[in-house]
Amino acid sequence: MKISWNLLLFLLNSVQAIELDLDDTASVKKACRDIASNILRHYTGYKPGDVPGNLPDPYYWWEAGAMFGALVDYWFYTGDTQWNNITSQAIRWQAGDSGSFMPANQTRTEGNDDQGFWAFAAMAAAERNFPMHRGEGPDWLAMAQATFNTQAWRWDNENCGGGLRWQIFTWNAGYMYKNTISNGCFFNLAARLARYTGNQTYADWAERIWDWTEDVGFVTNDYLFFDGASVDGNCTKYDHVQWTYNAGVYLLGAAAMYNFTDGDPIWKQRTEGIIKSTNIFFNNDVMYERACEPVGTCKVDQRPFKGFLARWMAASTQFAPFAYDLVISKLRSSALAAGKTCTGGRDRAECSLKWTEQKYTGGPEGGDVGIQMAALEVIQSTLIKKVEPPVTQEDGGRSKGDPAGGSEPPLPTPSLLVRDITAGDRAGAALVTVFLAGVMAWSVKWVVLDPTT
Ligand SMILES: *[C@@H]1O[C@H](CO)[C@@H](O)[C@H](O)[C@H]1NC(C)=O
Ligand SMILES: *[C@@H]1O[C@H](CO)[C@@H](O)[C@H](O)[C@H]1NC(C)=O
Ligand SMILES: *[C@@H]1O[C@H](CO)[C@@H](O)[C@H](O)[C@H]1NC(C)=O
Ligand SMILES: *[C@@H]1O[C@H](CO)[C@@H](O)[C@H](O)[C@H]1NC(C)=O
Ligand SMILES: *[C@@H]1O[C@H](CO)[C@@H](O)[C@H](O)[C@H]1NC(C)=O
Repeated sequence: MKISWNLLLFLLNSVQAIELDLDDTASVKKACRDIASNILRHYTGYKPGDVPGNLPDPYYWWEAGAMFGALVDYWFYTGDTQWNNITSQAIRWQAGDSGSFMPANQTRTEGNDDQGFWAFAAMAAAERNFPMHRGEGPDWLAMAQATFNTQAWRWDNENCGGGLRWQIFTWNAGYMYKNTISNGCFFNLAARLARYTGNQTYADWAERIWDWTEDVGFVTNDYLFFDGASVDGNCTKYDHVQWTYNAGVYLLGAAAMYNFTDGDPIWKQRTEGIIKSTNIFFNNDVMYERACEPVGTCKVDQRPFKGFLARWMAASTQFAPFAYDLVISKLRSSALAAGKTCTGGRDRAECSLKWTEQKYTGGPEGGDVGIQMAALEVIQSTLIKKVEPPVTQEDGGRSKGDPAGGSEPPLPTPSLLVRDITAGDRAGAALVTVFLAGVMAWSVKWVVLDPTT
């Protein structure tokens, strides 16, 4: 009896577990659907009384934005529309009336990178002609532009010769830190907006952000990206940790600039250089997060990172077709390895963190959004040759833009907020919020965004 039960369970499991054949599109799509279904078990924001776009603890707000970005791509890669409604509802809700992803519930702890990951969901939706949720409010393109505008306001020339700080508001400790991912998100968004709209202003900003990233030393001559540095010391005391997603976010921006400039050799060199530099994130052609996986310290936020490198490696081949041959075999071997980890949990579709192990090795009880998302990203990225390149305003794009978006409701300019941080400031965040509400009530004049001034 016991033996036959075990046999039955074994058969059941082997039938249900993900079987990934990368040369069979139906098999890839099914694996993606199973992995995505597992992610969506964590999300209840579409239910009455719940908040669209929020994930429960322990997931921060940014990761939900990243998840909806992954779902926009999921729809585009697979044609499966089942989560389109909840995706557009969530993006729309969190974008708010201004479209800039500065919802009152989040702004107290919001970083420029957090805002950036939500804006990527909107930018991808514009580039893929993702259907719009019915109702009033800014369209996908307008959301990306609104986010861009709020970030361009925050560009801080007073410290480190430029750059965005990590945190938006003074009372958060990260306000004193300039990090690569925040600037990389801004760069990526500017470059894609340049390509989508053809507006040179965005391209000028992308150039400016890239140049600053080099000047400040966040990227080396070999295209390795450090995490960032404190504003104290003028951004010279680097945190040298290298994360996959920093390389990825700059890679796609460089590829978009390559495309926008119609093949400028400097952007080709940068695109190629970054791809080469990502070799450090592969072990036998399988992607891994070298800063935390080998030592077992990957935090909730860090678990999805390598999925973004996969997302942007694949997307870069549409902007810079020469990149395809440089990335595809690595994406495929990583996807195969990731797929082999997705046999856990009751649904037999729960993946584990270390793709290099090539099998399910356990993970957080009930699965983890970040781990699943990374597996989804790398597996669906292998379909990149089968989908259309991103549209532009001139060529098929249906999303309505608003180059002046993000100005309502008025946001305080960074200079109004620059004060020394004390422990009292942080403890008194609620008080500062009251102060901020006062500032917000004044009409802050729209600043003309001209990177040459
Ligand atoms: C999505 O929403 C539209 C309009 O609200 C509705 O007609 C459609 O049936 C929904 N689709 C799904 C898959 O829920
Ligand atoms: C803000 O949070 C409250 C409490 O969770 C919720 O009721 C409200 O809908 C949220 N607002 C937005 C815009 O998300
Ligand atoms: C601060 O760093 C920037 C960027 O590296 C540099 O251009 C500037 O000269 C530095 N300022 C000082 C005072 O060292
Ligand atoms: C720009 O992207 C389009 C769409 O993928 C592609 O057809 C074109 O060749 C790219 N331009 C360059 C210079 O590679
Ligand atoms: C180009 O973008 C800038 C910055 O957002 C904006 O001020 C300008 O109006 C845009 N130009 C056009 C023609 O849309």
